[in-house]
Amino acid sequence: MNDYLMYMNGSWQGESLEKLIVKNPANHEEVGTVPIGGAFEANEAVASAYQAFQTWSKTTAYERANYLQRLYKLLIEHQEELAEVMTREMGKPIQESRGEVLYAASFLEWFAEEGKRVYGETIPSHIGEKRMQVWKKPIGVVAAITPWNFPLAMLTRKMGPALAAGCTIVMKPSGESPITAVKLTELCEKAGFPKGVINLVTGKSSEIGQAFMENEQVRKVTFTGSTEVGKILIKQSADQVKRLSLELGGHAPIIVLDDADIDLAVKGAIASKFRNTGQTCVCGNRIYVQVQVYDKFLEKFTEAVRALKVGNGMEENVQIGPLINQDGVDKVAKHVEDAVERGASVLTGGARIEKYEGTFYAPTVLRDATSEMIVMNEETFGPVAPVQPFETIEEVVELANRTKYGLAAYVFTESVGKGTRLVKQLDYGIVGWNDGTPSAAQAPFGGMKESGLGREGGREGIEAFLETQYVSIGLE
Ligand code: SIN
Repeated sequence: MNDYLMYMNGSWQGESLEKLIVKNPANHEEVGTVPIGGAFEANEAVASAYQAFQTWSKTTAYERANYLQRLYKLLIEHQEELAEVMTREMGKPIQESRGEVLYAASFLEWFAEEGKRVYGETIPSHIGEKRMQVWKKPIGVVAAITPWNFPLAMLTRKMGPALAAGCTIVMKPSGESPITAVKLTELCEKAGFPKGVINLVTGKSSEIGQAFMENEQVRKVTFTGSTEVGKILIKQSADQVKRLSLELGGHAPIIVLDDADIDLAVKGAIASKFRNTGQTCVCGNRIYVQVQVYDKFLEKFTEAVRALKVGNGMEENVQIGPLINQDGVDKVAKHVEDAVERGASVLTGGARIEKYEGTFYAPTVLRDATSEMIVMNEETFGPVAPVQPFETIEEVVELANRTKYGLAAYVFTESVGKGTRLVKQLDYGIVGWNDGTPSAAQAPFGGMKESGLGREGGREGIEAFLETQYVSIGLE
Protein backbone atom coordinates (compact mmCIF):
# COMPACT_ATOMS: atom_id res chain seq x y z
CA MET A 1 0.00 0.00 0.00
CA ASN A 2 1.40 3.41 -1.01
CA ASP A 3 1.26 6.63 1.00
CA TYR A 4 0.43 9.44 -1.42
CA LEU A 5 0.89 13.17 -0.82
CA MET A 6 -0.68 16.53 -1.60
CA TYR A 7 0.87 18.87 -4.16
CA MET A 8 1.37 22.60 -3.88
CA ASN A 9 3.83 25.17 -5.14
CA GLY A 10 5.43 22.44 -7.25
CA SER A 11 6.24 20.07 -4.38
CA TRP A 12 4.70 17.03 -2.69
CA GLN A 13 3.67 17.73 0.89
CA GLY A 14 1.79 16.43 3.90
CA GLU A 15 4.06 13.59 5.14
CA SER A 16 3.55 14.58 8.77
CA LEU A 17 -0.26 14.73 8.60
CA GLU A 18 -2.64 12.03 9.73
CA LYS A 19 -3.55 9.63 6.89
CA LEU A 20 -6.85 8.75 5.30
CA ILE A 21 -6.96 5.09 4.25
CA VAL A 22 -8.68 4.49 0.93
CA LYS A 23 -10.35 1.06 0.61
CA ASN A 24 -11.60 -0.87 -2.40
CA PRO A 25 -15.41 -1.18 -2.05
CA ALA A 26 -15.31 -4.53 -3.88
CA ASN A 27 -13.33 -6.32 -1.14
CA HIS A 28 -12.26 -3.70 1.45
CA GLU A 29 -8.56 -4.10 0.56
CA GLU A 30 -6.48 -1.03 1.44
CA VAL A 31 -5.49 0.77 -1.76
CA GLY A 32 -3.39 3.58 -0.32
CA THR A 33 -3.43 6.62 1.93
CA VAL A 34 -3.58 10.38 1.44
CA PRO A 35 -2.89 13.10 4.01
CA ILE A 36 -5.83 14.55 5.92
CA GLY A 37 -5.35 18.23 5.19
CA GLY A 38 -7.55 21.03 6.46
CA ALA A 39 -7.92 24.82 6.26
CA PHE A 40 -4.19 25.46 6.69
CA GLU A 41 -3.24 23.29 3.71
CA ALA A 42 -6.09 24.69 1.62
CA ASN A 43 -4.87 28.25 2.23
CA GLU A 44 -1.26 27.28 1.45
CA ALA A 45 -2.38 25.77 -1.84
CA VAL A 46 -4.41 28.88 -2.67
CA ALA A 47 -1.42 31.12 -1.93
CA SER A 48 0.68 29.07 -4.32
CA ALA A 49 -2.00 29.23 -7.02
CA TYR A 50 -2.36 32.99 -6.49
CA GLN A 51 1.33 33.58 -6.99
CA ALA A 52 1.42 31.39 -10.10
CA PHE A 53 -1.61 33.22 -11.52
CA GLN A 54 0.47 36.40 -11.84
CA THR A 55 2.56 34.79 -14.58
CA TRP A 56 0.31 32.00 -15.95
CA SER A 57 -2.44 34.51 -16.77
CA LYS A 58 0.04 36.39 -18.97
CA THR A 59 1.02 33.37 -21.10
CA THR A 60 -0.61 33.04 -24.51
CA ALA A 61 -3.42 30.64 -25.25
CA TYR A 62 -0.99 28.85 -27.58
CA GLU A 63 1.54 28.26 -24.79
CA ARG A 64 -1.20 27.01 -22.46
CA ALA A 65 -2.52 24.72 -25.20
CA ASN A 66 0.91 23.10 -25.50
CA TYR A 67 0.91 22.17 -21.81
CA LEU A 68 -2.64 20.82 -22.03
CA GLN A 69 -1.82 18.80 -25.15
CA ARG A 70 1.17 17.28 -23.36
CA LEU A 71 -1.04 16.35 -20.43
CA TYR A 72 -3.64 14.90 -22.82
CA LYS A 73 -1.00 12.62 -24.38
CA LEU A 74 0.26 11.53 -20.95
CA LEU A 75 -3.25 10.52 -19.92
CA ILE A 76 -3.61 8.41 -23.05
CA GLU A 77 -0.20 6.81 -22.45
CA HIS A 78 -1.13 6.01 -18.83
CA GLN A 79 -4.67 4.85 -19.59
CA GLU A 80 -4.29 1.40 -18.06
CA GLU A 81 -2.56 2.58 -14.88
CA LEU A 82 -5.15 5.32 -14.28
CA ALA A 83 -8.02 2.95 -15.01
CA GLU A 84 -6.74 0.37 -12.53
CA VAL A 85 -6.33 2.92 -9.76
CA MET A 86 -9.84 4.20 -10.39
CA THR A 87 -11.40 0.74 -10.31
CA ARG A 88 -9.50 -0.24 -7.19
CA GLU A 89 -10.40 2.85 -5.22
CA MET A 90 -14.06 3.27 -6.16
CA GLY A 91 -15.16 0.02 -7.80
CA LYS A 92 -16.02 1.10 -11.35
CA PRO A 93 -15.82 -1.80 -13.85
CA ILE A 94 -12.42 -1.67 -15.55
CA GLN A 95 -13.90 -1.23 -19.05
CA GLU A 96 -15.72 1.87 -17.84
CA SER A 97 -12.58 3.16 -16.10
CA ARG A 98 -10.68 2.84 -19.38
CA GLY A 99 -13.50 4.75 -21.05
CA GLU A 100 -13.35 7.41 -18.35
CA VAL A 101 -9.64 8.00 -18.99
CA LEU A 102 -10.43 8.73 -22.65
CA TYR A 103 -13.39 10.89 -21.66
CA ALA A 104 -11.21 12.79 -19.15
CA ALA A 105 -8.46 13.27 -21.72
CA SER A 106 -10.95 14.61 -24.26
CA PHE A 107 -11.61 17.67 -22.04
CA LEU A 108 -7.91 18.53 -22.06
CA GLU A 109 -7.62 18.17 -25.82
CA TRP A 110 -10.78 20.07 -26.59
CA PHE A 111 -10.16 22.98 -24.20
CA ALA A 112 -6.51 23.27 -25.31
CA GLU A 113 -7.94 24.34 -28.67
CA GLU A 114 -10.94 26.24 -27.34
CA GLY A 115 -8.61 28.51 -25.37
CA LYS A 116 -7.40 29.82 -28.73
CA ARG A 117 -10.94 30.89 -29.57
CA VAL A 118 -11.59 33.18 -26.64
CA TYR A 119 -12.49 36.14 -28.79
CA GLY A 120 -13.56 39.50 -27.52
CA GLU A 121 -16.04 41.62 -29.41
CA THR A 122 -16.30 45.04 -31.01
CA ILE A 123 -19.71 46.61 -30.56
CA PRO A 124 -20.92 49.17 -33.13
CA SER A 125 -20.79 52.54 -31.41
CA HIS A 126 -23.59 55.10 -31.43
CA ILE A 127 -20.94 57.87 -31.47
CA GLY A 128 -18.30 58.14 -34.21
CA GLU A 129 -15.39 58.94 -31.89
CA LYS A 130 -15.59 55.80 -29.81
CA ARG A 131 -14.50 52.19 -30.02
CA MET A 132 -16.63 49.93 -27.83
CA GLN A 133 -14.94 46.64 -27.09
CA VAL A 134 -15.44 43.54 -24.97
CA TRP A 135 -12.30 41.95 -23.59
CA LYS A 136 -12.03 38.63 -21.80
CA LYS A 137 -9.90 38.06 -18.71
CA PRO A 138 -9.19 34.88 -16.72
CA ILE A 139 -11.20 35.00 -13.53
CA GLY A 140 -8.30 34.20 -11.15
CA VAL A 141 -7.61 31.33 -8.77
CA VAL A 142 -10.11 28.51 -9.12
CA ALA A 143 -10.98 25.95 -6.44
CA ALA A 144 -12.37 22.71 -7.89
CA ILE A 145 -14.25 20.32 -5.59
CA THR A 146 -14.99 16.99 -7.21
CA PRO A 147 -16.94 13.81 -6.40
CA TRP A 148 -15.90 10.16 -6.19
CA ASN A 149 -18.06 8.79 -8.99
CA PHE A 150 -15.93 10.16 -11.87
CA PRO A 151 -12.59 10.67 -10.11
CA LEU A 152 -10.70 11.71 -13.25
CA ALA A 153 -13.17 13.22 -15.70
CA MET A 154 -14.72 15.63 -13.22
CA LEU A 155 -11.25 17.05 -12.53
CA THR A 156 -10.26 17.48 -16.17
CA ARG A 157 -13.69 18.89 -17.06
CA LYS A 158 -12.85 21.73 -14.66
CA MET A 159 -9.07 21.87 -15.03
CA GLY A 160 -9.05 21.88 -18.85
CA PRO A 161 -11.08 25.07 -19.36
CA ALA A 162 -9.71 26.80 -16.22
CA LEU A 163 -6.09 26.40 -17.33
CA ALA A 164 -6.88 27.16 -20.97
CA ALA A 165 -8.56 30.41 -19.88
CA GLY A 166 -5.43 31.45 -17.94
CA CYS A 167 -6.61 30.58 -14.43
CA THR A 168 -4.64 28.56 -11.89
CA ILE A 169 -6.29 25.82 -9.86
CA VAL A 170 -6.49 24.10 -6.49
CA MET A 171 -8.17 20.70 -6.68
CA LYS A 172 -9.95 19.00 -3.79
CA PRO A 173 -11.03 15.46 -4.76
CA SER A 174 -13.45 13.34 -2.75
CA GLY A 175 -12.03 11.36 0.17
CA GLU A 176 -13.50 8.19 -1.38
CA SER A 177 -11.33 8.35 -4.52
CA PRO A 178 -8.42 10.78 -4.06
CA ILE A 179 -5.65 8.56 -5.45
CA THR A 180 -6.76 9.00 -9.05
CA ALA A 181 -6.37 12.75 -8.45
CA VAL A 182 -2.85 12.18 -7.12
CA LYS A 183 -2.01 10.16 -10.25
CA LEU A 184 -3.39 12.96 -12.44
CA THR A 185 -1.29 15.49 -10.55
CA GLU A 186 1.82 13.34 -11.06
CA LEU A 187 1.14 13.54 -14.79
CA CYS A 188 0.65 17.32 -14.55
CA GLU A 189 4.10 17.50 -12.99
CA LYS A 190 5.49 15.36 -15.80
CA ALA A 191 3.82 17.63 -18.37
CA GLY A 192 5.94 20.46 -16.93
CA PHE A 193 3.30 22.94 -15.76
CA PRO A 194 5.02 25.81 -13.89
CA LYS A 195 4.91 25.46 -10.11
CA GLY A 196 1.73 26.65 -8.44
CA VAL A 197 -0.43 26.43 -11.57
CA ILE A 198 -1.92 23.11 -10.43
CA ASN A 199 -2.30 22.23 -6.74
CA LEU A 200 -3.94 19.34 -4.93
CA VAL A 201 -5.27 19.20 -1.38
CA THR A 202 -6.80 16.13 0.23
CA GLY A 203 -8.58 15.75 3.54
CA LYS A 204 -11.47 17.26 5.44
CA SER A 205 -14.08 18.26 2.85
CA SER A 206 -16.18 20.76 4.76
CA GLU A 207 -13.18 22.47 6.38
CA ILE A 208 -11.32 22.76 3.08
CA GLY A 209 -14.49 23.90 1.28
CA GLN A 210 -15.08 26.60 3.88
CA ALA A 211 -11.45 27.73 3.67
CA PHE A 212 -11.83 28.17 -0.11
CA MET A 213 -14.98 30.17 0.45
CA GLU A 214 -13.39 32.45 3.05
CA ASN A 215 -10.17 33.03 1.10
CA GLU A 216 -10.37 36.24 -0.93
CA GLN A 217 -7.72 34.98 -3.34
CA VAL A 218 -10.13 32.31 -4.61
CA ARG A 219 -12.31 33.99 -7.21
CA LYS A 220 -14.20 30.97 -8.46
CA VAL A 221 -15.42 27.71 -6.98
CA THR A 222 -16.50 24.93 -9.30
CA PHE A 223 -18.24 22.00 -7.67
CA THR A 224 -19.77 18.70 -8.70
CA GLY A 225 -21.77 16.94 -6.00
CA SER A 226 -25.06 16.94 -4.15
CA THR A 227 -27.70 19.65 -4.30
CA GLU A 228 -27.53 19.79 -0.51
CA VAL A 229 -23.82 20.77 -0.49
CA GLY A 230 -24.36 23.04 -3.50
CA LYS A 231 -26.85 25.07 -1.46
CA ILE A 232 -24.32 25.45 1.37
CA LEU A 233 -21.74 26.74 -1.13
CA ILE A 234 -24.25 29.25 -2.54
CA LYS A 235 -24.80 30.62 0.97
CA GLN A 236 -21.06 30.68 1.75
CA SER A 237 -20.28 32.43 -1.54
CA ALA A 238 -22.47 35.42 -0.69
CA ASP A 239 -19.98 37.29 1.52
CA GLN A 240 -17.42 37.74 -1.24
CA VAL A 241 -19.80 37.38 -4.20
CA LYS A 242 -17.61 34.51 -5.32
CA ARG A 243 -18.30 33.06 -8.75
CA LEU A 244 -19.80 29.57 -8.69
CA SER A 245 -20.37 26.74 -11.14
CA LEU A 246 -22.46 23.96 -9.65
CA GLU A 247 -23.20 20.59 -11.20
CA LEU A 248 -25.60 19.08 -8.68
CA GLY A 249 -27.96 16.16 -8.28
CA GLY A 250 -30.33 14.74 -10.86
CA HIS A 251 -33.33 12.46 -11.16
CA ALA A 252 -33.47 11.67 -14.84
CA PRO A 253 -36.67 10.40 -16.45
CA ILE A 254 -36.36 7.95 -19.35
CA ILE A 255 -39.46 8.25 -21.54
CA VAL A 256 -40.35 5.50 -24.00
CA LEU A 257 -43.14 6.36 -26.46
CA ASP A 258 -45.29 3.74 -28.19
CA ASP A 259 -43.50 4.22 -31.54
CA ALA A 260 -40.00 3.75 -30.07
CA ASP A 261 -37.58 1.18 -31.42
CA ILE A 262 -37.85 -1.01 -28.30
CA ASP A 263 -34.48 -2.69 -28.71
CA LEU A 264 -32.84 0.72 -28.97
CA ALA A 265 -34.82 1.97 -25.95
CA VAL A 266 -33.70 -1.04 -23.90
CA LYS A 267 -30.07 -0.53 -24.95
CA GLY A 268 -30.26 3.20 -24.15
CA ALA A 269 -31.99 2.62 -20.81
CA ILE A 270 -29.36 0.04 -19.80
CA ALA A 271 -26.53 2.41 -20.76
CA SER A 272 -28.08 5.36 -18.95
CA LYS A 273 -29.34 3.52 -15.87
CA PHE A 274 -26.51 1.08 -15.17
CA ARG A 275 -23.44 3.10 -16.20
CA ASN A 276 -21.13 3.27 -13.18
CA THR A 277 -23.52 0.92 -11.35
CA GLY A 278 -26.16 3.63 -11.38
CA GLN A 279 -23.92 6.10 -9.55
CA THR A 280 -24.06 8.93 -12.07
CA CYS A 281 -25.76 12.31 -11.78
CA VAL A 282 -27.22 11.90 -15.28
CA CYS A 283 -28.35 8.30 -14.66
CA GLY A 284 -31.89 7.43 -15.59
CA ASN A 285 -33.61 7.27 -12.20
CA ARG A 286 -37.19 6.50 -13.34
CA ILE A 287 -38.54 5.00 -16.53
CA TYR A 288 -41.93 5.95 -18.03
CA VAL A 289 -43.25 3.67 -20.77
CA GLN A 290 -46.38 4.27 -22.86
CA VAL A 291 -49.03 1.62 -22.07
CA GLN A 292 -49.13 0.13 -25.59
CA VAL A 293 -45.48 -1.05 -25.29
CA TYR A 294 -45.22 -1.38 -21.49
CA ASP A 295 -45.16 -5.20 -21.30
CA LYS A 296 -42.94 -5.59 -24.35
CA PHE A 297 -40.41 -3.09 -22.98
CA LEU A 298 -40.43 -4.65 -19.51
CA GLU A 299 -39.88 -8.14 -20.87
CA LYS A 300 -36.85 -7.17 -22.97
CA PHE A 301 -35.46 -4.75 -20.40
CA THR A 302 -35.69 -7.27 -17.54
CA GLU A 303 -33.97 -9.88 -19.67
CA ALA A 304 -31.13 -7.44 -20.41
CA VAL A 305 -30.78 -6.49 -16.73
CA ARG A 306 -30.67 -10.16 -15.68
CA ALA A 307 -27.78 -10.67 -18.09
CA LEU A 308 -25.61 -7.95 -16.50
CA LYS A 309 -22.48 -9.45 -14.96
CA VAL A 310 -21.87 -8.39 -11.37
CA GLY A 311 -18.49 -8.62 -9.61
CA ASN A 312 -15.18 -7.03 -8.71
CA GLY A 313 -14.60 -4.30 -11.28
CA MET A 314 -11.05 -5.55 -11.86
CA GLU A 315 -12.42 -8.66 -13.60
CA GLU A 316 -12.78 -8.17 -17.34
CA ASN A 317 -16.43 -8.29 -18.54
CA VAL A 318 -17.89 -7.22 -15.19
CA GLN A 319 -20.59 -4.62 -15.91
CA ILE A 320 -21.87 -3.92 -12.39
CA GLY A 321 -19.37 -3.25 -9.63
CA PRO A 322 -19.90 -2.52 -5.94
CA LEU A 323 -21.57 0.60 -4.61
CA ILE A 324 -19.20 3.12 -3.09
CA ASN A 325 -19.93 2.20 0.55
CA GLN A 326 -22.42 0.69 2.98
CA ASP A 327 -24.48 3.90 3.13
CA GLY A 328 -24.92 3.61 -0.61
CA VAL A 329 -26.24 0.06 -0.28
CA ASP A 330 -28.54 1.00 2.61
CA LYS A 331 -30.04 3.85 0.60
CA VAL A 332 -30.71 1.62 -2.40
CA ALA A 333 -32.26 -1.06 -0.14
CA LYS A 334 -34.50 1.59 1.46
CA HIS A 335 -35.73 2.79 -1.96
CA VAL A 336 -36.56 -0.76 -3.04
CA GLU A 337 -38.28 -1.71 0.25
CA ASP A 338 -40.38 1.45 0.16
CA ALA A 339 -41.39 0.83 -3.46
CA VAL A 340 -42.41 -2.76 -2.72
CA GLU A 341 -44.41 -1.69 0.34
CA ARG A 342 -46.25 0.80 -1.86
CA GLY A 343 -47.17 -1.79 -4.49
CA ALA A 344 -44.27 -2.18 -6.93
CA SER A 345 -43.22 -5.71 -7.91
CA VAL A 346 -39.62 -6.85 -8.27
CA LEU A 347 -39.00 -8.41 -11.71
CA THR A 348 -35.34 -9.10 -11.03
CA GLY A 349 -32.84 -8.28 -8.25
CA GLY A 350 -34.28 -6.55 -5.22
CA ALA A 351 -31.63 -7.64 -2.71
CA ARG A 352 -28.11 -7.06 -1.42
CA ILE A 353 -25.55 -9.53 -2.73
CA GLU A 354 -24.09 -11.21 0.31
CA LYS A 355 -21.75 -13.66 -1.43
CA TYR A 356 -19.15 -10.92 -2.01
CA GLU A 357 -17.26 -9.21 0.76
CA GLY A 358 -17.85 -5.76 -0.72
CA THR A 359 -20.83 -3.42 -0.93
CA PHE A 360 -22.94 -4.96 -3.70
CA TYR A 361 -26.62 -4.65 -4.63
CA ALA A 362 -28.22 -6.69 -7.41
CA PRO A 363 -29.37 -4.88 -10.58
CA THR A 364 -33.08 -4.43 -10.01
CA VAL A 365 -36.19 -3.79 -12.09
CA LEU A 366 -39.37 -2.61 -10.36
CA ARG A 367 -42.71 -2.86 -12.17
CA ASP A 368 -45.63 -0.49 -11.58
CA ALA A 369 -43.80 2.27 -9.78
CA THR A 370 -45.84 5.32 -8.75
CA SER A 371 -45.07 8.95 -7.96
CA GLU A 372 -45.38 8.53 -4.16
CA MET A 373 -42.44 6.13 -3.97
CA ILE A 374 -39.12 7.48 -2.65
CA VAL A 375 -37.32 6.00 -5.65
CA MET A 376 -39.40 8.22 -7.99
CA ASN A 377 -38.39 11.39 -6.10
CA GLU A 378 -34.97 11.05 -4.50
CA GLU A 379 -31.68 10.30 -6.25
CA THR A 380 -31.08 6.54 -5.81
CA PHE A 381 -27.43 6.38 -6.96
CA GLY A 382 -27.62 2.65 -7.45
CA PRO A 383 -28.64 -0.10 -9.90
CA VAL A 384 -32.41 0.17 -9.50
CA ALA A 385 -34.80 0.85 -12.38
CA PRO A 386 -38.40 1.65 -11.41
CA VAL A 387 -40.80 1.55 -14.35
CA GLN A 388 -44.19 3.28 -14.54
CA PRO A 389 -46.76 3.19 -17.38
CA PHE A 390 -48.35 6.34 -18.86
CA GLU A 391 -51.07 7.04 -21.42
CA THR A 392 -50.53 10.46 -23.01
CA ILE A 393 -47.66 12.82 -23.78
CA GLU A 394 -49.27 15.54 -21.63
CA GLU A 395 -49.30 13.12 -18.70
CA VAL A 396 -45.65 12.10 -19.10
CA VAL A 397 -44.49 15.73 -19.42
CA GLU A 398 -46.10 16.44 -16.06
CA LEU A 399 -44.56 13.31 -14.51
CA ALA A 400 -41.11 14.06 -15.92
CA ASN A 401 -41.06 17.68 -14.74
CA ARG A 402 -42.51 17.10 -11.29
CA THR A 403 -39.26 16.80 -9.27
CA LYS A 404 -36.97 19.65 -8.18
CA TYR A 405 -34.24 18.33 -10.48
CA GLY A 406 -33.54 19.26 -14.08
CA LEU A 407 -30.22 17.73 -15.11
CA ALA A 408 -30.79 15.04 -17.75
CA ALA A 409 -33.76 13.37 -19.43
CA TYR A 410 -33.98 10.66 -22.08
CA VAL A 411 -36.61 10.25 -24.79
CA PHE A 412 -37.11 7.27 -27.06
CA THR A 413 -39.31 7.80 -30.11
CA GLU A 414 -38.95 7.35 -33.86
CA SER A 415 -41.23 10.33 -34.56
CA VAL A 416 -39.47 13.65 -35.20
CA GLY A 417 -42.70 15.55 -34.60
CA LYS A 418 -43.59 13.88 -31.28
CA GLY A 419 -39.97 13.91 -30.10
CA THR A 420 -39.53 17.61 -30.86
CA ARG A 421 -42.77 18.59 -29.11
CA LEU A 422 -41.88 16.43 -26.10
CA VAL A 423 -38.26 17.61 -25.72
CA LYS A 424 -39.34 21.28 -25.92
CA GLN A 425 -41.54 20.76 -22.87
CA LEU A 426 -38.92 19.04 -20.71
CA ASP A 427 -37.21 21.27 -18.13
CA TYR A 428 -33.85 19.54 -18.38
CA GLY A 429 -30.39 20.87 -19.28
CA ILE A 430 -29.43 17.71 -21.21
CA VAL A 431 -31.70 15.50 -23.29
CA GLY A 432 -30.66 12.21 -24.87
CA TRP A 433 -33.09 11.49 -27.74
CA ASN A 434 -32.63 7.85 -28.74
CA ASP A 435 -29.30 8.19 -26.92
CA GLY A 436 -28.45 6.86 -23.46
CA THR A 437 -25.01 8.48 -23.22
CA PRO A 438 -25.11 12.10 -24.43
CA SER A 439 -22.10 13.52 -22.48
CA ALA A 440 -19.16 14.87 -24.54
CA ALA A 441 -16.38 17.42 -24.01
CA GLN A 442 -17.66 19.72 -26.77
CA ALA A 443 -21.25 19.84 -25.47
CA PRO A 444 -22.65 21.94 -22.59
CA PHE A 445 -23.28 19.80 -19.49
CA GLY A 446 -25.39 21.10 -16.61
CA GLY A 447 -28.81 21.34 -15.14
CA MET A 448 -31.90 23.49 -14.71
CA LYS A 449 -33.79 24.04 -11.45
CA GLU A 450 -32.03 22.57 -8.38
CA SER A 451 -29.60 20.59 -10.54
CA GLY A 452 -27.13 23.42 -10.74
CA LEU A 453 -25.77 26.70 -12.00
CA GLY A 454 -23.81 27.16 -15.21
CA ARG A 455 -22.52 24.64 -17.71
CA GLU A 456 -19.33 22.63 -18.08
CA GLY A 457 -17.94 21.46 -21.41
CA GLY A 458 -18.53 23.12 -24.75
CA ARG A 459 -18.14 26.84 -25.41
CA GLU A 460 -20.00 27.59 -22.18
CA GLY A 461 -17.40 25.58 -20.25
CA ILE A 462 -14.61 28.09 -20.83
CA GLU A 463 -16.83 31.16 -20.35
CA ALA A 464 -17.26 29.99 -16.75
CA PHE A 465 -13.59 30.85 -16.10
CA LEU A 466 -13.58 34.24 -17.82
CA GLU A 467 -14.59 37.71 -16.77
CA THR A 468 -16.10 40.06 -19.33
CA GLN A 469 -14.53 43.51 -19.39
CA TYR A 470 -16.23 46.24 -21.41
CA VAL A 471 -13.74 48.84 -22.65
CA SER A 472 -14.99 52.08 -24.17
CA ILE A 473 -12.18 53.86 -26.05
CA GLY A 474 -12.61 57.55 -26.80
CA LEU A 475 -10.86 58.48 -30.05
CA GLU A 476 -10.95 62.30 -29.80
C1 SIN B 1 -21.78 13.03 -13.46
O1 SIN B 1 -22.24 12.07 -12.89
O2 SIN B 1 -21.97 14.16 -13.03
C2 SIN B 1 -20.93 12.92 -14.70
C3 SIN B 1 -21.54 12.15 -15.77
C4 SIN B 1 -21.05 12.51 -17.14
O3 SIN B 1 -20.16 13.34 -17.32
O4 SIN B 1 -21.61 11.94 -18.07
